[in-house]
This record gives sequence, C-alpha cells and structure tokens, in this order.
Amino acid sequence: MTVHSSANVKRITTHILQEMKDRGEKISMLTAYDFSMAKIVDASGIDIILVGDSASNVMAGHETTLPITLDQMIYHASSVVRAVSRSFVVVDIPFGSYQGNSSEALRSAIRIMKESGAHAVKVEGGSEIKESVARILSAGVPVMGHLGLTPQSIYKFGTYTVRAKEDAEATKLLEDAKLLEELGCFAIVVEKIPADLAKKVAESVTIPIIGIGAGGGVDGQVLVVHDMLGITQEFKPRFLRQYADLEGIMMQAFGQYIKDVKSKDFPNDKESY
Ligand code: KIV
Repeated sequence: MTVHSSANVKRITTHILQEMKDRGEKISMLTAYDFSMAKIVDASGIDIILVGDSASNVMAGHETTLPITLDQMIYHASSVVRAVSRSFVVVDIPFGSYQGNSSEALRSAIRIMKESGAHAVKVEGGSEIKESVARILSAGVPVMGHLGLTPQSIYKFGTYTVRAKEDAEATKLLEDAKLLEELGCFAIVVEKIPADLAKKVAESVTIPIIGIGAGGGVDGQVLVVHDMLGITQEFKPRFLRQYADLEGIMMQAFGQYIKDVKSKDFPNDKESY
C-alpha cells in the first residue's frame, strides 16, 4: 500500500481527514481569527484552521468564550476564509446559538456556512445537544464535536482543571464520543482530559479525535495560535508547547521603532518622497 501524505493535497476535505486517521497520519490544527494570520497558517500547510470562539479571549479580551456573538464569529470566519486556499476551515458556533433549540442551531450553522464560506461548524457537548447536532447534519453541514473541558460550560465546571478524571465522567465522555460518531460528526476535539482516556476514545471510534491537553494517543493536535507563538504570555498550561516568543520579538521591534522616531532617525531620506 502506498503511504500518502496530506502535504501534497490541494484542498483538505472531511474525506481526506478520515483517510489520514485510517492510515495513521496525524492531523495538525491551529486557530486563526483574521485574514493576515490565516494566510500564514494556511501557507504553512496546517490541515485544519479553527475559527475558535477563543477569539472572545484572544481577540476581544473577554475572560470567557461566552460573550462572543454569532455576528462576530461570522466576521472572523469570513476574514479567515478569504485568506485560505488549502486548509479545512471549521467555525465554532458560539454560546447561546445552538443549545436547547435545534431550529436555532440549524439557523446559526446555515448563517455561518452561507455568510462566511467556511467548511464546517464545531459545537460543544454530547447527549445534551444531540438534537441540534442531528438537525445541523441533516442540512449537509459537517459537524465537529468538542468534549472534555468545554469552555462554554465554564460556569458549570467552575474551573479550567482536567476533566473526566472520575469514572462516571470518563464513561459519559466515551459514550458521548460514540453518540457523536453515530450521529454523523466527522471529527471530535477532546480538551484537557487524561491521555489514557483520550487514547481509548480515539481507539473506540472510527472518526478523527483531535486533542488539546489530551496526550499523544489521539489522531491530531490543536493549539490556539496566539498561545503557541508566545503572544499570550500569561497563559502557560502544562499542555502548551510554545514554538516562538513573538511577544519578545514584537516588544523589541516596537522599542526600536520608538527610539528611531524619538531620535529622528526614522524616516531617513531614502524613506521619504
Ligand atoms: O475556541 C477554541 O480555540 C477551541 C480550541 C481550544 C479547541 O475550541
């Protein structure tokens, strides 16, 4: 059997993501919320770009993901979609736009797909939102699930610590993953759960399981781009590997610019008309 790599793929689809799991190629996923960042992330070869509702934290400075609106998510998503030529773009349906009302869930998903041009939506939860998931899927919209630490429920949990350490919660998470697969979700994010449980979930379902703080036994990894680039310096959970110190680089550049302006070194004759 020839082993393919997604590196040569012109456009990532749900079908290709499934093939990646089937042949054991790990899926790479990062967030992006704006055109310029998404252009770089897409060009780097990332498989999935998530327009996460973490935009509420990183872009808008809110403490939680709850305040971001559907209109704001569509604005971020359409900026990202305009930049992307290869990555598969998934958009979070924000808090209050799909829970407890499957008609509203469908309306929200259709608005995201129509107005942003994204390729799929993501929702948080399992059995509690099964009607909403089924309704969205019935319209032909691909759905990514999200289990474990689900930040839209932060006031129910009360803390951002590791989820599903107890048997009852672990059993429910496994059942929810199977339910989401049965309903027709194309992938599931599992956030901040024990690595052994995440591996068990990935082995128990056929669809890709993408982890964040869920160890290496899953089918892919996702990080928030501002965290892995070292822009959000104050957020340093154990699962985060920081790949750059952009805050340091930016502070250095801004500091030099200030110096050059104050000293009248900038602009020089060559930089003037
Ligand atoms: O909103 C987000 O960025 C997410 C990821 C952390 C998975 O849901």
